[in-house]
Formats: sequence, C-alpha cells, structure tokens
Amino acid sequence: MKKEFIEAMNRRYACKEFDIERRITDEDFNFIMEAGRLSPSSFGFEPWQFLVITDPKMKEEVTEFSWGGRDRATGASHFVVALTRKGEMKHDSEYLNNFMRGVQKLPEEVIEMKTNFFRDFQEKDFNLLENERTLSDWAGKQSYIAMGNMLTAGAIAGVDSCPIEGFHKEKTEKILAEKFDIDMERFALSYMIAFGYAKDPENKFPKTRRGMEDVVRYL
Ligand SMILES: Cc1cc2nc3c(=O)[nH]c(=O)nc-3n(C[C@H](O)[C@H](O)[C@H](O)COP(=O)(O)O)c2cc1C
Repeated sequence: MKKEFIEAMNRRYACKEFDIERRITDEDFNFIMEAGRLSPSSFGFEPWQFLVITDPKMKEEVTEFSWGGRDRATGASHFVVALTRKGEMKHDSEYLNNFMRGVQKLPEEVIEMKTNFFRDFQEKDFNLLENERTLSDWAGKQSYIAMGNMLTAGAIAGVDSCPIEGFHKEKTEKILAEKFDIDMERFALSYMIAFGYAKDPENKFPKTRRGMEDVVRYL
C-alpha cells in the first residue's frame, strides 16, 4: 500500500495533451470525485463545489480565457471546474448554520459554541474579515486540499490529469455566470482540472523536486 502510493505520486505528472478518444469509466471517475468529497477542510465546512464538464462545446467555452487550460480541456475526458463558497463561509451565515445542523448533525448548544469559536478564529486569529477577498482566498485554500487528493486518486486509478490555474479569473467567472448560469455572487472560481489519458504517455518532463533535507527541517 505504501509502495503503491509513492509509485502513484511519482507517476502523476501535469499532462499537457490528452487522447480525445479515451474516456474515463464512471467507476474510476467516481473514485476520483470521492477523494475530493472526503477531503478535510478547516472546521469541516467543505466550501467547495465541483462542476464536471464533458461536452466539447462547454469545455471550449469555459476555457475561452485560459492560456494554461485550453489545450488540456480539448482532449480531456472529464473537465472539472472547482468553485468555492465566498460570503457563505462567514461565521454568521445562514448557510453555515444550516450546514452544522443538517450535515454535521450538531446539537444547538454545540452550534452556538462552534459559531463563537469560528467568529474569533475569523476575526482575531486569521484576520479573515478584512475584505471579501481575504475570506474567499482562505476558503479557496480548503478547496486546494481536495485538488491534491483528486490528482493522487487519479494517479492511483491510472488516470492522467492536469491542474489548471492558467486563466483570467474575472473573465472566466463572468462566463460561468452568463453561459453556465452559476451564481457567482455565492461562488468564486478556484481552479480547474483536466482528467483523461495522455495522448503521448512518453512525452513528459522528467520529475524534478528539491531534496528531502531541503524540504523538511527537523528541529
Ligand atoms: C495550482 C496549480 C496550477 C497549475 N496550473 C497549470 C496550468 O494552468 N497549466 C499547466 O499546464 N500546468 C499547470 N500546473 C502544473 C504545474 O506546472 C506542475 O504541477 C509542476 O510544474 C510540477 O510538475 P508535475 O506536476 O508534472 O510533477 C499547475 C499546478 C498547480 C498545482
């Protein structure tokens, strides 16, 4: 298990061109999305939502302003657009209140305690309420945890992937609102991921990483 995991981590790479003829099975794709769904998040509030696009025209539309994703999207079997909740992640939102009740199944007195604790965390510890972007970027950080897990799950299932931040955020958010009818008052666009199978599996940059002694310091 440990050996297979590290092998998959080594095998995973940012695939630049996908084979348009090959589709990921439902079973494998569900496995990848399950890794995203089960990911941890601060206070357990799961601020993410994933849009899955397979339609060629929609893949083209969503990557209109994506210099780092357009070619990846074309051949991808499944193209994921990751959204993150914005204002709903503020400590006093109705959304979070309902989330603690409905999803986390917390009793009322615990909800009150957790809300107060979360308010202090947002106001004092992490200073997240300075402006809308601070809160939204903090929530976005949670969504990147799911990204890592989905990429690794893909590698374990033999599915290639490419994480994508190479797009104009504001222009793409406008497309999501206008062409995809997504409520961008509630959501911010965090990243995209192309999933599929490499067109030319041998054509990849050799993996380079800093040495362990540079990355980890034992004190
Ligand atoms: C948050 C994030 C955004 C990225 N955006 C892009 C992108 O827009 N286009 C692209 O081709 N690769 C993108 N990459 C891939 C990175 O360039 C790649 O992961 C890095 O160079 C390490 O190489 P490896 O993943 O092949 O090991 C992105 C990676 C991450 C984690």
